[in-house]
Amino acid sequence: MPVPNPTGARRTGPRGSTRAARQAERYGTSSTTVYDLHLHVLVGVDDGARTLDESHAMVTGLAALGYRKVVTTPHIRDGLFPNSPESLLGVFAEWRDALLAREGALPELALGAEHHLDATCLELANAKRLLAYPDGRSVLVELPYETLPPRLSDACFRIALGGYKLVLAHPERNRVLRENRNDPWPFAGSKPKLLLDLLALEGEYGAEAERAACDWLDLGYYDAACSDLHRPSQLPKLKAALETLERRWGRERRELLLEAGPSGIANP
Ligand SMILES: [Fe+2]
Repeated sequence: MPVPNPTGARRTGPRGSTRAARQAERYGTSSTTVYDLHLHVLVGVDDGARTLDESHAMVTGLAALGYRKVVTTPHIRDGLFPNSPESLLGVFAEWRDALLAREGALPELALGAEHHLDATCLELANAKRLLAYPDGRSVLVELPYETLPPRLSDACFRIALGGYKLVLAHPERNRVLRENRNDPWPFAGSKPKLLLDLLALEGEYGAEAERAACDWLDLGYYDAACSDLHRPSQLPKLKAALETLERRWGRERRELLLEAGPSGIANP
């Protein structure tokens, strides 16, 4: 049983507009809810928020930027972050109660996970125990930064066999994917949904990641955009990235990547 969770276009007109228009058609009209599908605000379970104060500052900061739904995605990674879906569900419930007891407007809070594509991830997929988004099927996966895992297509196929749909976190941060500038997913099998890390637009991960993010935005490859926040100190950069996104790629694209795109991924 799945772990129950309560919670190639042409450059014409506005950049990437042809592919973006097709995506808008697929996802329907804008949901008017602004989503963040990837960030680390659960306290003490990974390299994200260290205290409830930090966590509170991040989620209220997101609310002030217009976010209305936030899916926190703690790491599950062999050796580094040995969290389990079940343990995270317990931590999440307590954390949400603690935040709700505080002052300040909050976005709606939900839980997912950032599964590193490793042996544990494949075991959880086989057992249908991956911690999915609230739709119960979409799972966020991250790759190493410098390499690709061996037998990547096979691993993706095994996850699909478990009944899951892949969502790939920040492809612009993987060196090998960056080398395929004209196609971030040149592999057999179905293409995952691609999640842009907005902070890449402000150089948070270096010039190469920034260039790849801009190229893939130009080409209309991204399905949604996230913050991958770990600290409240990153909020000003996120604000700048949102302005850059709208200035360079237009309001419609911003709405697609923050509203309709994530809604199509995370909602049942
Ligand atoms: Fe991440």
